[in-house]
Amino acid sequence: MSNVSIRDLDLAGKRVLLRLDLNVPMDGARVLDDTRIRAAVPTVKYALEQGASVVVCSHLGRPNGERNPAFDLTPVAVRLARTLRMNVRMAPDCIGDVATQMSSELKSGEVMVLQNLRFHEEEEEDDGDFAAQLADLADIYVNDAFGAAHRAHASTHAVATMMPSAGGLLLDREIEALEPIRRGEAGKLGFISGGAKVSDKLGLLERIAEISEVIAIGGAMANTFLLARGLPTGASLLEQDMVEAANEITATAHDEHCELLIPTDCVIARGADEPPRAKPLVFAEEEIPEDWQILDVGPTTVETFSEAVKDCDTVVWNGPLGLFEREAFSGGTRAMAEALAKLEDATTVICGGETAAAVAQFRLTSKMSHVSTGGGAALEYLQGIDLPGIAVLPEAEPQDEEDD
Ligand code: 3PG
Repeated sequence: MSNVSIRDLDLAGKRVLLRLDLNVPMDGARVLDDTRIRAAVPTVKYALEQGASVVVCSHLGRPNGERNPAFDLTPVAVRLARTLRMNVRMAPDCIGDVATQMSSELKSGEVMVLQNLRFHEEEEEDDGDFAAQLADLADIYVNDAFGAAHRAHASTHAVATMMPSAGGLLLDREIEALEPIRRGEAGKLGFISGGAKVSDKLGLLERIAEISEVIAIGGAMANTFLLARGLPTGASLLEQDMVEAANEITATAHDEHCELLIPTDCVIARGADEPPRAKPLVFAEEEIPEDWQILDVGPTTVETFSEAVKDCDTVVWNGPLGLFEREAFSGGTRAMAEALAKLEDATTVICGGETAAAVAQFRLTSKMSHVSTGGGAALEYLQGIDLPGIAVLPEAEPQDEEDD
């Protein structure tokens, strides 16, 4: 069942409360990555073209219910205005007299942005009164914040029960890309998993093991799998208490006839700030010295991973394979991104902020079929969890079956 989409609504002359995920990485007042801002543009433009005015709301960071200048949304609103090439008005708060006055004066074709929702603790409490005050600012609610759809907060959940509601164009795109994978209907599926922690992805890996042909594990999380197989890991980052979980995932993969690959070679150094040893370490040939760390996968590992996913219909990648932010340890992640970029017949789906940032760093974003704007939201969605921000939206009328 799909939810009502913004395309199903008559927006002419209406004020739309548009929930976006403008939670972008910042350095002071500087936006470091505007992917989520750019991804929001089609829905804003669509609403304006249909004759609506738009009241944008979003969170930024985790100010824990307190007004904090470090999480001021104004620089993000300025960037949104620049991206939209139009003036955008900024409300000093997301509720209250000024926001109400400003929204009532908004004309068709105009956009305003509300100050950070999380300056009020009621937002994360999914508070009904707070949501009602947001609802009073507009006629229609549209949720396009896929990245925040796993949060049952006032602006993603309660408010949708109070007014005509729909999903935005980004939400539609994300669901369209992720739904076939979640259902296990994406053809031959390959899953590349990296990043630091097995514990963050337990449920996901169990589910993925059921529906994919191959899981390739790199990044620091692979160290826990290496340890589980009795291989020395030196001073590498790992989770001792997840060894059993790693064994269980390995067992599930075995039972489900899913090939589970872990690194066979790696790049090591005495620490992240130290230069890497020139020669990659091959596990079958030597043991890692006690005070050295694994900081990237080696070239043979990437070759094996690339070969394993080469015939897949869909390849999902979540989590970098090494400490890609440091040039010395970026080789594995870069080579993996390049291998996926070359897959002409496969659908390639990138999930998670770090993986998206890595692919962007290597200038390969445009070579991927879909780069999700959701981190936690995308992983929960793929795991089969119903996201509250989507589940609360009204269901679309079923389409009439076409006659044979
Ligand atoms: C994200 O960046 O994953 C979303 O914006 C959600 O943010 P949160 O984890 O602070 O709720």
